[in-house]
Amino acid sequence: MTTPPTRASPTLRSLLTGLDGVDPDALDLTIHPGDAMYGFAAEQVGGVREQARLEYFRSGHNVWQVVDAALRQILGPRWPKRRPARVLDFGAGHGRVTRFLLPQLGASRLTSTEADPSAVEFLRAHFGLAAHQTPSDPSGVDLRHRFEQPEGFDAILALSVLTHLPEPAFEAWLKRWLDALTVEGGVLLFTTLGPATLLPGRSMPRSGFHFERISESRILDLDEYGTAWVTRDRVGRTLDRLTRGLARWKHVPRGVWNLQDLWLVTLDPRVHWGGDFELAVDLPTGQLEACRADGSILVASGWATGGRRPPRPARVELLLDGELVAEMETSGHRADAIEHLDLEEGAQVAAGFELRHRSNVPIDPATQVRIEVVDDVDPARSNGRRHVLHAGSVEGTELFLQMRGMLRDADHYRNQVEIFEQSRWGKMRRIWMSWKRRLRP
Ligand SMILES: C[S@@+](CC[C@H](N)C(=O)[O-])C[C@H]1O[C@@H](n2cnc3c(N)ncnc32)[C@H](O)[C@@H]1O
Repeated sequence: MTTPPTRASPTLRSLLTGLDGVDPDALDLTIHPGDAMYGFAAEQVGGVREQARLEYFRSGHNVWQVVDAALRQILGPRWPKRRPARVLDFGAGHGRVTRFLLPQLGASRLTSTEADPSAVEFLRAHFGLAAHQTPSDPSGVDLRHRFEQPEGFDAILALSVLTHLPEPAFEAWLKRWLDALTVEGGVLLFTTLGPATLLPGRSMPRSGFHFERISESRILDLDEYGTAWVTRDRVGRTLDRLTRGLARWKHVPRGVWNLQDLWLVTLDPRVHWGGDFELAVDLPTGQLEACRADGSILVASGWATGGRRPPRPARVELLLDGELVAEMETSGHRADAIEHLDLEEGAQVAAGFELRHRSNVPIDPATQVRIEVVDDVDPARSNGRRHVLHAGSVEGTELFLQMRGMLRDADHYRNQVEIFEQSRWGKMRRIWMSWKRRLRP
């Protein structure tokens, strides 16, 4: 069962037009009703469906950009033209990222796997992909044999997969992927969650691995698919052990969405990451904090950065109904943005922006606002990378920002309660309450 293709609303159309390297007409907009990644996006934006769809495509595009930049940097001109390049998208879900890879690679070069049968069916029927179900338990799985790739895969992607697996499956799948890489230039790209993203009140055990039975999946067993956090040392040690020290790896902390750590691994000693690797995978980002239209004046403000490694300023552009009406370079030190980006204490980067537009007529609430960040502030170079910070109608944007503020407040109070519950005082309170209940006449 699939939903009919999502018609591009004016806002979605505006977003797609702004996405770097995407042909809005070539992108498949169908979202499967059981897509947990869509459910996750909807939760992030308080259930507002329009913004959820935007967030879904924006997050998929963002990961694709990082993957593309990383593989381009490593495989150089061989990516994606290398033939017969074979890419394995392990745990592809319902194609949030796959749909951006498809126009680039073509279905014949892409193999997908999923544990969720509805996703396998969707990837096959809808995208025409060679999609297969793989079990939760990796015992006895030989990916080369299973997918008839005796030479192995040139690239294996496991995006937001290890972020969910318990320790034994984590290591066992890592081993299966390494075994299935072509020795010549094969690259494994995966993501993990680092200790900085642990839930409130949790601490990382000495083993460097922490697992909890929580996830967005409605069908997978929480013992087999929860949420996992792991340290850099632990992953590095595991890679060294699994390959007897042959693995050459690169770790980019919070390299995806400023949240998940990005890992690239190869067994080919001739592969070079390239001096600019960090720069290549480091995309502009930021946050729209306020947007108000008052009569004929519209003001939008927030923070943005051209990238984190090294921290650099950006150009921020305001487009109304697709027309550029204001732009500026970021300015002013924003300590909260520095903290959000996990930059070193004392890092100096101009991150604030306030874009102002005065129109000749009152601004229509249905006007489409798009805010873009460009990482190149040097006017002599016009090929900077772009990131769509926000897309929405004027009215939708105002409402969305108000709701996001309320969600943040609710989150903050929930975290405070959680921290208290996990603390010594919280535990003592629970013991006291249980005694009180027992002593009650
Ligand atoms: C968080 S989702 C990410 C989906 C997709 N990679 C993306 O980024 O949009 C992780 C996916 O991994 C899949 N998965 C977990 N264990 C798997 C396994 N053993 N074989 C194949 N897929 C698996 C889950 O079903 C889920 O759809």
